[in-house]
Amino acid sequence: MKFFIDTANIDQIKEARDLGILDGVTTNPSLMAKEGITGEKNIFKHYKNICKEVEGLDVSAEVISTEFSEMVKEGKVLADLAENIVVKVPMTKDGIKAISYFSERDILTNCTLVFSAGQAILAAKAGATYLSPFVGRIDDISWDGMKLIEEIVSIYSIQGYATEILAASIRNPLHIIQAAKAGADVVTCPLSSILALFNHPLTDIGLAKFLEDYHKAGK
Ligand code: E4P
Repeated sequence: MKFFIDTANIDQIKEARDLGILDGVTTNPSLMAKEGITGEKNIFKHYKNICKEVEGLDVSAEVISTEFSEMVKEGKVLADLAENIVVKVPMTKDGIKAISYFSERDILTNCTLVFSAGQAILAAKAGATYLSPFVGRIDDISWDGMKLIEEIVSIYSIQGYATEILAASIRNPLHIIQAAKAGADVVTCPLSSILALFNHPLTDIGLAKFLEDYHKAGK
């Protein structure tokens, strides 16, 4: 399973990249706004900066347009910003048309705001590179987000769809483990969830004991 970081924060992207376990970055308009990045010029500049920090890794940049021809225009501009841009498009009728358009022209896409297996089938048929089902937001309304990942993994495997399942809206380290168990191709998570995977009290206790014994033996 590939690890993407779900942020537009350059320091966090660098920290995850430097761990040597990062495979890509996802952003969305809310994440850009959280970093105080506003206005087309600044947003494009920020995408370029992110892409430079993680050369060769996929970086999802989301379109703001909701109408097909505008999505196409915007998506082309985004795709031209850097070689590693993936155009992120919402799951709507116009979005699916745009994904088909980009797919025919070898422009990578990420179909976002996916909440059902039916939507997942449409995105795969349109040729989306990635599909982003939002696990956490489904959990937030007391449904089981991970069940959706399992369902889509099963359908894609039966049908032989090439679209990669990117578990999104990840809230905690358990989600990452569950996504791996369910067979997600990619998980995109906040840095805090990635870092939480490191934690185990027995690791800390064990390391302290090893170092204590080493120093004792040397005396
Ligand atoms: C990433 O591609 C999604 O936009 C993101 O994971 C959504 O996460 P949220 O539900 O925590 O906003």
